[in-house]
Amino acid sequence: MTDEPEESPVTAEFVADDADIDASLRPKSLDDFIGQPRVREQLQLVLTGAKMRGGTPDHILLSGPPGLGKTSMAMIIAGELGTALRLTSGPALERAGDLAAMLSNLVEGDVLFIDEIHRIARPAEEMLYLAMEDFRVDVVVGKGPGATSIPLEVAPFTLVGATTRSGALTGPLRDRFGFTAHMDFYDPPELERILTRSAGILGVRITTDAAVEIAGRSRGTPRIANRLLRRVRDYADVRADGIVTLEVAQAALAVYDVDELGLDRLDRAVLGALVRSFGGGPVGVSTLAVAVGEEPATVEEVCEPFLVRAGMVARTPRGRVATAAAWKQLGLVPPSDLTVGGIPVRSNEPARTLFDD
Ligand SMILES: Nc1ncnc2c1ncn2[C@@H]1O[C@H](COP(=O)(O)OP(=O)(O)OP(=O)(O)O)[C@@H](O)[C@H]1O
Ligand SMILES: [Mg+2]
Repeated sequence: MTDEPEESPVTAEFVADDADIDASLRPKSLDDFIGQPRVREQLQLVLTGAKMRGGTPDHILLSGPPGLGKTSMAMIIAGELGTALRLTSGPALERAGDLAAMLSNLVEGDVLFIDEIHRIARPAEEMLYLAMEDFRVDVVVGKGPGATSIPLEVAPFTLVGATTRSGALTGPLRDRFGFTAHMDFYDPPELERILTRSAGILGVRITTDAAVEIAGRSRGTPRIANRLLRRVRDYADVRADGIVTLEVAQAALAVYDVDELGLDRLDRAVLGALVRSFGGGPVGVSTLAVAVGEEPATVEEVCEPFLVRAGMVARTPRGRVATAAAWKQLGLVPPSDLTVGGIPVRSNEPARTLFDD
C-alpha cells in the first residue's frame, strides 16, 4: 500500500506519513481528549475507582472505526494510572509463546495494549483467557507425549484491547473485558475544536470558518481532520500567504478531491458500484469489494461505517443497499420504487444529513 501513487487524504486508516504528527497531536490526558463525553466519563469512573482501591482496573475494550482515538485513549489510560504501557497487536501474537513472553515481562499495574485484538491467533487467545482471569498462564514445553505444561505467574495487569470489529471477537474473549468503550464518530463542532488544538500545536494560522469547513469534510474522524489540516497547510504555504482561510481550505480540498461530505474516491467508487453495477443492491460486501478492487475488510471497516452513518448505505440481511441519499449524492434520480430492507423509500424524501442522530 505504501508505494501506491496517491493515497487518499481521507482514508481513516493509518498511513506512514501520520506517524510523527500523530505522536505530537495525541491528547495526553482525559481532560485533553476532545469529544466522546460518555466514554470519558465512564473511563474516569473506572480508573478513579481502581486508583482509590489501590488495585488494577478491569480489562478495557475500546471499539470503533479507525482513527477515532483508540490508541490515544490506551496511552491516556496508562498515563492516568501512572503506569507503563506495553504495546503489541493481534497480528504480532501469532504463537502462544509470543504472548507468554509479553506477559512474563509485565510489572504489577502495567497496561498491556493489544491493538487489533480481533486478529489474535487462537492459541494466543486461549492463553489470554487465563491470563486475564487468573493472572497466570500455562506454558507448554516440548512436543508430543513428553510435553509438559509449566504454570507461570503473571503480575496483575490491565489489558486494553482495541478493535475496529468488536463483532469479530469471540464471545469468551469479549466476556473477559469488564468494560467496553464504544467510540463513535465525532460531530463537526468537536472536530473543529480538535482542528483548532492541532493548528495551535503545529503553529498553523487558521480562521474559524476554515476550521468549520475542514471539520465538515473530516468524516467524523480526528485522524482525517488532522491530515486534511496538513494538506491544507501545504497549500496555504505554497500557493497563498500561509494563512488557512476559508478560500484556501476550499481550494486545497478541491485539489485533493475531498468532497463536501468528505467522501473520497473509494467511497464514491463503492457507492457508484452499488448504484450503477448492482442497481442499488442488495449486494454482499465481498462482491462490492471485488467490484472496486479493494479488500473486503477495507470496504467493511473503513468505508462502510461512515457511509452507513451518513445514511447512504443500509445493511440488510440480504446485503448492502443504497438509500435515496446515495443516488442523489451521485447526481442520479433514485428509482421511484426504491426499498431499503423491504421498506419503501420515497425518492422525494429529504436526504438525511450527516449527523442528525
Ligand atoms: N479526541 C481527540 N482529540 C484530539 N485528537 C484526537 C482525538 N482522537 C484522536 N485524535 C487524533 O487522531 C489521531 C488518530 O488517533 P488514534 O491513533 O488514537 O486512533 P485509533 O482509533 O487508534 O485508530 P486505528 O483504529 O487506526 O488504530 C491521533 O494522532 C490524534 O492526533
Ligand atoms: Mg490505533
